Amino acid sequence: MAEYYATDDIYSEDGILLVSKGKKITNKAIQKLQRYENLQLKDLIVPANNRLNKQSKRLSKYTDHTIESFETRKNIRPSYNLERASEILGSIIFESKTKPWWIYVNSLGNYLDRLYTHSIDVAIISLIMAIELGYSSKELWNLGIGALLHDVGKLLIPKTILEKDEPLTDIEQAFIKQHCELGVSSLASFEFSEQYTDIVLQHHERIDGSGFPNGLKGDEISQNAKIVIVADVVDLITTYRAHNKPKNMNTAIRKLKIATDKYPQDLVDLLEKILEQ
Ligand SMILES: [Fe+2]
Ligand SMILES: [Fe+2]
Repeated sequence: MAEYYATDDIYSEDGILLVSKGKKITNKAIQKLQRYENLQLKDLIVPANNRLNKQSKRLSKYTDHTIESFETRKNIRPSYNLERASEILGSIIFESKTKPWWIYVNSLGNYLDRLYTHSIDVAIISLIMAIELGYSSKELWNLGIGALLHDVGKLLIPKTILEKDEPLTDIEQAFIKQHCELGVSSLASFEFSEQYTDIVLQHHERIDGSGFPNGLKGDEISQNAKIVIVADVVDLITTYRAHNKPKNMNTAIRKLKIATDKYPQDLVDLLEKILEQ
C-alpha cells in the first residue's frame, strides 16, 4: 500500500489540525481527508519515496558543499593533505550509505546542520594530521569514520540544550557530558572495533586527566582519540558559536600550545607545521 507524508500542517476549514507536518498518511486517512472539500490535497502530501529522495538529495548536496567549502570557511591554504583528506572523507560518507551505521551518519545530517558540519570538519582536520603521520589507507578509513561519528551521542541530547545560546545550567552540562558514553552505547550493536569507539568515548579526555568521562591521562588515551581531541577543539575555536566569534586557525593552535598539560603537543605542532606548508 502506498504511503504518503504531509508536507505541511493540514487544517480543516474551521482551524482544526487534522495532520501535522511530516506525519505519515495512510490511504485510509487520505480518503477521510478527501471529505474536506477545501483542502488542496495534492499540494499537501507527497509519496514516501519522493520524501526520502528529497531528504537524501539535500543531505548529499549539503555534505558535498560542507566538504568543498572547508578551505574557505577555515581560511587556510590549499594543500595536498587537505585535498586527500576531503577525498577520503567523501568516499567514507559515500560508502557508509551501504553500511548499517548509515542511520547515524544520516541522522547527524538531519538532526542539526551545525552538528553535522562540526562532524565533517573534525573528520577533515583529523585526517589531515593522520595523513602527515603516514597512516595507511585502512587506518585513515578507521580514523575518518570514528571522527565523523565522534559526537553521535549528541543525537540523544535534546536540541533545546544543544542550541541554547545562554550558558548551560549544571544539570544541562552534566547531561551533555554523557554524550561520549551515549555514543558508544549507540554504536554497540555494530561491533565496531575499539579504533572507532575509543574516539567516541575519549575525545573529551585531557592529557593531565582533567577531561571526561573517565579522567584518563597521557597514553591511557588512544592515539586516534588524541588526534580527534586536537581536531575537535581547533574546530570549536574556529567556528561561530553564541557569544564566541570564530578565531583563525593560528589563534586556535596558539591556544592549544599554551595549554601544554591538556593537549598532546606533538600533534598540535604537527597541525601547525601542516598549515604553514
Ligand atoms: Fe563531543
Ligand atoms: Fe565534537
